Amino acid sequence: MYEIKTPSGITYSPPEGRCWGNLEAVFKKSLSENKIWFGKNGDSRPRQKNYLSEASGVKSWSWWSNKEAGHNQEAKKEINVLFGADNAFDTPKPERLMQRVLHIASNEGDLILDSFLGSASTVAVAHKMNRRYIGIELGEHAKTHCQPRLQKVVDGEQGGISKAVNWQGGGGFRFCKLGSTVFDEFGVLNHDIKFPTLAAHVWYIETRLPLTINKECKKKRSPLIGIHNETAYYLLYNGILGDKRPNGGNVLTGKILECLPVFEGKKVIYGETTRLGEARLKQENITFKQIPYDVKAL
Ligand SMILES: C[S@@+](CC[C@H](N)C(=O)[O-])C[C@H]1O[C@@H](n2cnc3c(N)ncnc32)[C@H](O)[C@@H]1O
Repeated sequence: MYEIKTPSGITYSPPEGRCWGNLEAVFKKSLSENKIWFGKNGDSRPRQKNYLSEASGVKSWSWWSNKEAGHNQEAKKEINVLFGADNAFDTPKPERLMQRVLHIASNEGDLILDSFLGSASTVAVAHKMNRRYIGIELGEHAKTHCQPRLQKVVDGEQGGISKAVNWQGGGGFRFCKLGSTVFDEFGVLNHDIKFPTLAAHVWYIETRLPLTINKECKKKRSPLIGIHNETAYYLLYNGILGDKRPNGGNVLTGKILECLPVFEGKKVIYGETTRLGEARLKQENITFKQIPYDVKAL
């Protein structure tokens, strides 16, 4: 039976009824490579040593000195350069701190979510580190501070970690405003939503693409949302055809069909109901979808 002798002479043997098996050879090899540790005083149960230089990737310590991760004054300076000294951000974080966090927790191309954007430090750093990101902010400073800060990053802003990561600018971001919710807390279609919001939702559900309605289109107020994969999508909702009577224009009748922008191929039409029978729908190459029942959530 193989026994281990610690440097201070204490002997260890395997638990009763068990043997070291081929571990003996492994142990001897580790011992000869100085990879076994017998504790501070050399009299403890042997433990394997792991050298930092041999680890894959650098292990992080829980103690982060301000030399490595920045400090409050540095953060204040960064934020003052970006937004002027009288800005409202009382607790900014240095870009170097966020760089450390993102370095440990993510890789290039990963998606970072900051649902409380504040001064946008996290996403600014994410951008400079080639991560993708989603930032959410309910305050007006989303427009007045976050958006301009990210634009500066795209333009090659040289504060924070820019020099350390050799940031030269580039990339881009999209600034979106959330519309009203399509469904209420019970999953029922929210009757207050306006045509463009429901149109965007229907378009996304059908095509998995964002709907961009330009100003010209908005002025025309067309029930044709768009054409995708040789299918035209229409939405009869919210008096889109100009008829302000309740349900007016939201019901697919023969007359309404005549008013719709013409499309020769397959058509998907959302409306409150249809007066066209199965045969006519088939003949016109129409799939009718009823609001609210066929308006699916994501
Ligand atoms: C302390 S800041 C966050 C700091 C930020 N994560 C950073 O990287 O520096 C908190 C922010 O969350 C925003 N906020 C609070 N509640 C929110 C909510 N429900 N949705 C979106 N933003 C919210 C506040 O307006 C404020 O700007």
